[in-house]
Amino acid sequence: MTATEAIGELFAGPGARDYLGDPVTIGTHMLQAGGLAEAAGAGAALVAAALLHDIGHLRQPSGRTGGSSPRASTADGRHGEAGAAWLSQWFGEAVTEPVRLHVPAKRYLCAVETGYFGLLSEESVRTLARQGGPMTPAEAAAFEALPYAGDAVSVRRWDDEAKDPAVTPPGFTHFAPLLEALVRA
Ligand SMILES: [Fe+2]
Repeated sequence: MTATEAIGELFAGPGARDYLGDPVTIGTHMLQAGGLAEAAGAGAALVAAALLHDIGHLRQPSGRTGGSSPRASTADGRHGEAGAAWLSQWFGEAVTEPVRLHVPAKRYLCAVETGYFGLLSEESVRTLARQGGPMTPAEAAAFEALPYAGDAVSVRRWDDEAKDPAVTPPGFTHFAPLLEALVRA
């Protein structure tokens, strides 16, 4: 199975069914994030990272059946790590690192940016404590020094915005050629 086939199956299956406690499905949320990155003029790898940032949630079995149940068991920091590890079979660090770091980026922004916490959705506030809460100054400095910290912060901002039930994002097929071009030879 190619990368786009495997990823497309996740968008079409659990992505179209499951929620994380926000008003849109996980798949719609990720497609909105990819669309926002594209509209912002981000490069292909960063658009892919925005599109795929929550793929780790779709790779884990839902805690309950019935589709609309929030995936509470996976709504913590591990989904970034798990998603990046899975994506690394096809994509380089310019895609996988912002995916891995989008949860720490929330903890980072809570520490360094006045007003950021107030922008978070209810669900994001709920998961923040489980993810470790705002970073300490030392943790924030270490985060800033990471090569893809800036890209992870960008993904995080699109992530926070991509929860609008009134927005119809591009479909997965819109992004498939961009993903195919990024797959490592
Ligand atoms: Fe997200």
